[in-house]
Amino acid sequence: MKNIPFSKVDIGAAERNYLKEVLDSGWLTTAGKTLEFEKKFAEYVGAKYACAVNSCTSALHLGIDALGVRAGDKVFVQSMTFTASAEVIRYMNADPIVLDIEYRTNLITPEILENAIAQYPDVKYLVVVHYGGQAAQMEQIVAICKQHGIKILEDAAHAFPTKLNGKMVGTFGDITCFSFYANKTITTGEGGMLVTEDEAIYKRAKVMRLHGINRDIWDRFTSKKPSWEYDVIEAGFKYNMTDLAAAIGLGQLEQAEDLRMGRQKAVEFYFEALKDLDMIDLPIVKCAFEDHAWHLFPIVLNDKAKISRNQFIEALAENGIGTSVHYKPIHQLTYYKEKYHLKSEDYPNAEKTWRGNVSLPLYPYMLEDDLQYIVEKIKKILI
Ligand SMILES: Cc1ncc(COP(=O)(O)O)c(C=O)c1O
Repeated sequence: MKNIPFSKVDIGAAERNYLKEVLDSGWLTTAGKTLEFEKKFAEYVGAKYACAVNSCTSALHLGIDALGVRAGDKVFVQSMTFTASAEVIRYMNADPIVLDIEYRTNLITPEILENAIAQYPDVKYLVVVHYGGQAAQMEQIVAICKQHGIKILEDAAHAFPTKLNGKMVGTFGDITCFSFYANKTITTGEGGMLVTEDEAIYKRAKVMRLHGINRDIWDRFTSKKPSWEYDVIEAGFKYNMTDLAAAIGLGQLEQAEDLRMGRQKAVEFYFEALKDLDMIDLPIVKCAFEDHAWHLFPIVLNDKAKISRNQFIEALAENGIGTSVHYKPIHQLTYYKEKYHLKSEDYPNAEKTWRGNVSLPLYPYMLEDDLQYIVEKIKKILI
């Protein structure tokens, strides 16, 4: 029997070399490598400013703070996402307005947004998630939000490198946040990045990233001003990225497109091999394959399947195949369900997805032999 993980990290020589430089330098926390990573990441996505942090959750928190969300505000967020997209709204004592998604893309569409605005005209903020690595239809979404004075925080935890009509995700909304968690498309172990075009947002995020101190640690130890001379202008957080993490990030950035292509190859195989199975709903791709980051390959077992999603996952596990589920929707999580009295019938697409969703193994350079094995077992279990 094979043993195929759900996801696998690919670390190359560049990551090791940058890490050695940092270890040899004797300075492990935020310094030159973090600055270099921020600069190169900003260049890659074509954004003006980038602020490196210790997770995407931290980036989302800094982002929602910098957008101006405050206690009592309402924020649109989609149900089919990781809890972090919604929890940061609660960090500010604001309230999420949880929206359904489009079936098989798991994205918010312009129509879903317009209906939500009609129902909740007082909402002035949107968290939009580029689920699985496919961009939401940002051109229309940005236009609708402009018209209604809604500010946009993009949760791009899955979406690097992702494009939409030739433009990188990271250049559409007011703020975009990326994740470098261990299973993401590029990783620093734990890490995140906030990017924006807005200088005031960038400055606020940088100050809040480090205790509300008006100077970076690195600046404090490199500038000519005495290092003890700093002021605190807000009750900020401890969210800075270490140079150790940035070193790995710099190496990962250099191979980001190769890694993306490596995942795309596996996805092409899955699409071709699974296209005739009528009990599986495959993801719908509205962009060019090359514009998709392919963080996930989520399939949905539909009503024609003879077994449940959980039985399917167990059967795959018995064959040594790792899978995951993205996600149990926000409206089903006890905290949100009870606090906001969320009802399943208001989320028909997220419900249908939740009943059958399974993410298949996906990582760069999967062996054809392993892909064959996975597909063979899927067919044996389902047909
Ligand atoms: C959609 C989404 N948003 C945010 C996050 C949080 O990322 P991090 O683990 O870097 O905080 C994740 C992580 O899985 C995610 O999937």
